[in-house]
Amino acid sequence: MTATPLTKTPEWQALRGHHAEIAPLHLRELFAQDPRRGETMVAEAGDLYLDYSKNRLTGETVRLLCALAERAGLRERIEAMFTGQRINVTEDRPVLHVALRAPQETTILVDGRDVVSDVHAVLDQMADFSRQVRSGRWLGYTGKRIRNVVNIGIGGSDLGPAMVCKALKGAADQARTVRYVSNVDGADLRDATLDLDPAETLFVVCSKTFTTLETLTNARAAREWLVNALRDRWVPPSLPAGQTPVERHFVAVSTNAQAVAEFGIAPANMFPFWDWVGGRYSVGSAIGLSVMLAIGPYRFGELLEGFHTMDEHFRATPLDQNLPVLLGLIGVWYRDFFDAQTQAILPYSQRLARFPAYLQQLEMESNGKSVDLEGNPVEVQTSPIVWGEPGTNGQHAFYQLLHQGTTLVPCDFIGFCRPLSHLAGQHDLLMANFFAQTEALAFGHAHELPYRNLPGNVPTNTILATALTPGVLGQLIALYEHKVFTQGVIWGINSFDQWGVEFGKILAQRIAGELDAKAEPALDHDSSTNALIRRYRSVR
Ligand code: F6P
Repeated sequence: MTATPLTKTPEWQALRGHHAEIAPLHLRELFAQDPRRGETMVAEAGDLYLDYSKNRLTGETVRLLCALAERAGLRERIEAMFTGQRINVTEDRPVLHVALRAPQETTILVDGRDVVSDVHAVLDQMADFSRQVRSGRWLGYTGKRIRNVVNIGIGGSDLGPAMVCKALKGAADQARTVRYVSNVDGADLRDATLDLDPAETLFVVCSKTFTTLETLTNARAAREWLVNALRDRWVPPSLPAGQTPVERHFVAVSTNAQAVAEFGIAPANMFPFWDWVGGRYSVGSAIGLSVMLAIGPYRFGELLEGFHTMDEHFRATPLDQNLPVLLGLIGVWYRDFFDAQTQAILPYSQRLARFPAYLQQLEMESNGKSVDLEGNPVEVQTSPIVWGEPGTNGQHAFYQLLHQGTTLVPCDFIGFCRPLSHLAGQHDLLMANFFAQTEALAFGHAHELPYRNLPGNVPTNTILATALTPGVLGQLIALYEHKVFTQGVIWGINSFDQWGVEFGKILAQRIAGELDAKAEPALDHDSSTNALIRRYRSVR
């Protein structure tokens, strides 16, 4: 890490000067100058092929961006993460989601302890439990098989497993329902359980801290629903004696064994993880238990192998061929030099419908920061606003703005060569749209009527993968994890804390006690908040 402020470094200055040359150029001109750029501005890792040629940059831009990454110490920071150094400085923790998918023979030490063997012990515990549930050896309190799994969690304890479970639906055991409840709005839990038989339902309560208001409130409500329904039911003598409904129907994933025990979940039904796994980086840990219950331990292993493939690529590949580095640097190029405020994620796969929401937390909670590692205000723009929807639905909603609006929106298009459904013809149609859109966004469409003219010059990355298998999905998730890491290093921020969301939680706890009209405690907020609470009290 350099002591010189980022924007004062010769590398940043060089990029500023270079931007002045590139910004006026249209992608049409860049392709005319270098007709083969569609074949050369590409990189591959595992089963992912990245074409970044439809970006407003040249080979020189990539060289200058890589020089900036070198100056920011990206290689050293990558090594620091992989070797377990305490790079999450505000929480004084290592950042080791890469250990979650490290092969068994690897050693990574934290305070002298090999965390990889801990990881594999928990994976074995998860696999054993999943096999019992999937084979029907794990029975509910009344002796019925578990046919429904309801994951209760929020943020990283929900978005990752929910996204992956939807993405890998084709690999899942179709006889089992897996649902996700996150919102403290009671409608979420009610809607998820309305048509379920409690005797066939397993709740997986996921919370790293086991103190999160939403998760614990929902878990308590679920416990009440289940216990009320089952407590007086006949229990077959074949079941282990003395077991309670909670012991047969609730498991927990957490770092907080004491709070799990206080909730009433047996220690044997707790799947641990560790404080060196950030919530939004935790889907490969026991937080993915609901996914393993859906797709089985073998395919969950393929998912982890996919992650590991990208981890190795990120650690070992030269920067200018490194997919996460390229994505991260191109993002910095638009955010800081073109002042692009948003980034669209456009998966051409209905099963990846939750991927943009997943990336919102990954990118915006990680890099939505305004002070650097020393606590000084950052002088550059950090995370863009990340959003998106699956193609082709987005085409019929917001693509109009991409093509003819006034805001620059760099886009990532994600598509697959092979369909997972038997309707292969439909897949060709889907992919025809995929290719058509990046072409239209880049080159536009000249028309004498101004309102029919498409100016083009909208930059896109195209990520073309083989098929949406567990392994490919693991590669894709790790690609974005490491992209976020790369950007955090360039911006000199801590991508692994989230202090911005903590204060709102404290305030909500306080206001929760003020909403009861009978108690009517005095309000000493601002006049707006006071008046809104009074109105709520009187109308509720
Ligand atoms: O929203 C803030 C946050 O702290 C996220 O970072 C985290 O993923 C989520 O809450 C849930 O936290 P927990 O897993 O501890 O319930």
